[in-house]
Amino acid sequence: MQIINLDLNENSYDIFIDSGYFNSIPTMINDSFSYHKVTIITDDHVSELYLEQIKNEFSKLNVICSEYIIPNGESSKSIEMLTHIYSHLIEHNMTRTDAIIALGGGVVGDLAGFAAATYLRGIDFIQIPTTLLSQVDSSVGGKVAVNLPQGKNLVGNFYHPSAVYIDTEVLNTLEEREFISGMAEVIKYACIKDRSLFDILTSHDLDSIHSVIKEIIIKCVQTKANIVMEDEKESYERMLLNYGHTVGHAIEKYYDYKKYNHGEAVGQGMLYMLKASLKADLIDRETYDSLVELLDVYGLLFDEVYPLEVLMTYMKNDKKSVKDKINIVLLKTIGESYIEKVTYDYLEKFLMEGLC
Ligand code: GLY
Repeated sequence: MQIINLDLNENSYDIFIDSGYFNSIPTMINDSFSYHKVTIITDDHVSELYLEQIKNEFSKLNVICSEYIIPNGESSKSIEMLTHIYSHLIEHNMTRTDAIIALGGGVVGDLAGFAAATYLRGIDFIQIPTTLLSQVDSSVGGKVAVNLPQGKNLVGNFYHPSAVYIDTEVLNTLEEREFISGMAEVIKYACIKDRSLFDILTSHDLDSIHSVIKEIIIKCVQTKANIVMEDEKESYERMLLNYGHTVGHAIEKYYDYKKYNHGEAVGQGMLYMLKASLKADLIDRETYDSLVELLDVYGLLFDEVYPLEVLMTYMKNDKKSVKDKINIVLLKTIGESYIEKVTYDYLEKFLMEGLC
């Protein structure tokens, strides 16, 4: 088992990564934290697969366990769902010494984490991420949030879990489209920080990558932990994790989160940035070609062009906006990235050139 410690002084926690230890997680939680009561927040897909197992294990340990099951999908990450969760927590007399367990993907983790951050001014929460995307990115680093009708993650906080338990075996039950979505975040890490990860990705494809997925997850989580330890509240370094996300979030919003999932939209966001960067001579042709090829190999190359003026209106609502400027992430080469603060006019022209 690989244990990565995210050292944030009093908010430090361990991230456990291994394959095939799912049924041991309740015992590990009990040994470390001895909660009397837990509420598992999960969704209606994951609950079918894993809820009974985990509840059984908790009952053997005499931990009182309730569950709150949300519908799968981004629309559950709402203020309304949050109020239902608060009601459930109150009905089950959850106190400050009890804990919420987020069992699921990014939506479950962000929502359950926000509920934990705010209920009784904050109770413990544990992440058990079950998608590739949540295992490599959203379960680590303490970003918790819900969406507003105006945009994604507009209400949130930094609130760290007490521990993260990643069992790579649960990915065997993940639909291929969800796996591909997570691969967009994996490719992001290769782009911004990790040339050696890029080399692993190029020597595999969507079938064979499963044989090295634990190694890949460890690399991504270590990169993310290093970034978060350096810049927990996203003043510079952590912004690099948003590579492809400014355009990606706008694409998700363009279809009201219905057509493309997060990774598919981020894949397209990275392509926009690559095209514009090539045109502006910020990256060379070889870098461009190899990254476009990588997106293609992992099912993330989409052939869709959007009305830029519409995407720009969504980008102006982005959390990365500061007055009339926005921070964008650019690549020097594969594995090296930096941030540039630009005006919206500059960004629109930059992206437009890339499309010509
Ligand atoms: N998902 C980007 C971050 O955690 O900062």
